[in-house]
Amino acid sequence: RLLIIDFGSQVTQLIARRLRELNVYCEIHPFNKVDDAFLRAFAPKAIIFSGGPASVFAENAPMPPAAAFTLGVPILGICYGQQVMMHCLGGLVERGHGTAEFGRAFVTPTEATSPLLDGWFQAGREQVWMSHGDHVSRLAPGFQVYGTSPNAPFAITADPSRHFYAVQFHPEVHHTPKGAKLYENFVEMAGFKGDWTMGAYRADAIAKIRAQVGKGRVICALSGGVDSSVAAILIHEAIGDQLTCVYVDHGLMRLNESEQVVSMFREHYNLPLIHADESALFLGKLEGVSDPETKRKIIGGLFIEVFEKHAKAIGGAEFLAQGTLYPDVIESVSFSGGPSVTIKSHHNVGGLPARMNMQLVEPLRELFKDEVRALGRELGLPQSFIGRHPFPGPGLAIRCPGEITAEKLDLLRRADAVYIDQIRKHGLYDEIWQAFAAILPMKTVGVMGDGRTYDYAVALRAVTSVDGMTADTYPFSHEFLGETMTRIINEVPGINRVFYDVTSKPPGTIELE
Ligand code: XMP
Repeated sequence: RLLIIDFGSQVTQLIARRLRELNVYCEIHPFNKVDDAFLRAFAPKAIIFSGGPASVFAENAPMPPAAAFTLGVPILGICYGQQVMMHCLGGLVERGHGTAEFGRAFVTPTEATSPLLDGWFQAGREQVWMSHGDHVSRLAPGFQVYGTSPNAPFAITADPSRHFYAVQFHPEVHHTPKGAKLYENFVEMAGFKGDWTMGAYRADAIAKIRAQVGKGRVICALSGGVDSSVAAILIHEAIGDQLTCVYVDHGLMRLNESEQVVSMFREHYNLPLIHADESALFLGKLEGVSDPETKRKIIGGLFIEVFEKHAKAIGGAEFLAQGTLYPDVIESVSFSGGPSVTIKSHHNVGGLPARMNMQLVEPLRELFKDEVRALGRELGLPQSFIGRHPFPGPGLAIRCPGEITAEKLDLLRRADAVYIDQIRKHGLYDEIWQAFAAILPMKTVGVMGDGRTYDYAVALRAVTSVDGMTADTYPFSHEFLGETMTRIINEVPGINRVFYDVTSKPPGTIELE
């Protein structure tokens, strides 16, 4: 495995992404958690020093452990990683003085050649992405230059005898088009075979779960989403009926969704599953509530209460399983107010609290979202389940602005089902990040047949996005929207008007509340 020492770059996670794409297993650890002892225990086959916002001149500048240079394994330094490598090995780093570079730059080759650059420089120069104030001004003994840019004379450097490589730019970002090739060459030189597959991960994860849990009992809160589902199936494969899953049904799921989730897990996967139908409790507490934050707090609080109640009823479970993903557990290095470590807190299915006093089983902690989908496929979950659009924890409550009533939820479910059916029939589902209907808190007048109607309206929403942080409206044709409107109004009595929400994010959010 490969160790990435994080010096606080904004894009350290992308290094891990690029390596995973090459089927190389790697872990990111913050520099201040990596000392000589850690390094020896980790026994990496290669090391990457990430970039970072610090300057090697700063007091307490982040440094790699000395043993990194004596383990005899290849090292690749990126940006600050390059500077710190030169600084530690006897080179010189200098302050900007007009040589700072941010953004696009072009690197040209020198006479020297290196296997790191196989397949590079085919056009005589290569575009790279720079982001640095300091720069290396004298190489450490043993190093040579392989590429230069106008403001980074030592853009690509290496000491081939020790297999130390260092670049000033960021090969992991999209704007360094040949960056992936550089990583590929590096891991190949380090002897990685690219054999880290989902099959291998599955076997390894199962062994780890068995070792951690022993004869103990595990409970898992299933939400019906991909992450908790994959975690549950994997754990069940490892320890069988020592696992019990609890599906807290808050009564705010989509049409037939609870039945589908429950039957899939019980019948297809044979998983011991408690269907905690608490819809009356949730809907009762939500009665008359229209403030969005109050709704969210009520649902989050009740979820924890209900889950605890069922967990106690099972009795004697020492472990709580969660579908926590890698981006949620990476300790990011924060430099505000001095080197300190911020840990992003994870809120899984309702954010089950530490007060439950149970050990966590988190078999997806090392995976990115798309890797969880790949693992799900490996475990035999159908593509139609794995590729589902995200669905928020508070469910339909936040798609029903204003007061939530059983009548409105029923209309919303049926209109949403018609809308999604339309999207699937037109082959558009996989092009869209998220699509759903919301029911608006108003009635409007219409005419159907020869009669007057006074009924609810739905808003249809469909957005494209890569991470849910920003989003754009999906450009349906007028024909599609017209056909969908007709179907909803014909098939869902009680709805007489359909809007299409054209708001991007920002200024809107994806959900209505
Ligand atoms: P917003 O509405 O903030 O949504 O633009 C961004 C993404 O997050 C989802 N979302 C949630 N997911 N619990 C969740 O698990 C929540 O409370 C929650 N609120 C929003 C939303 O569906 C979209 O994908």
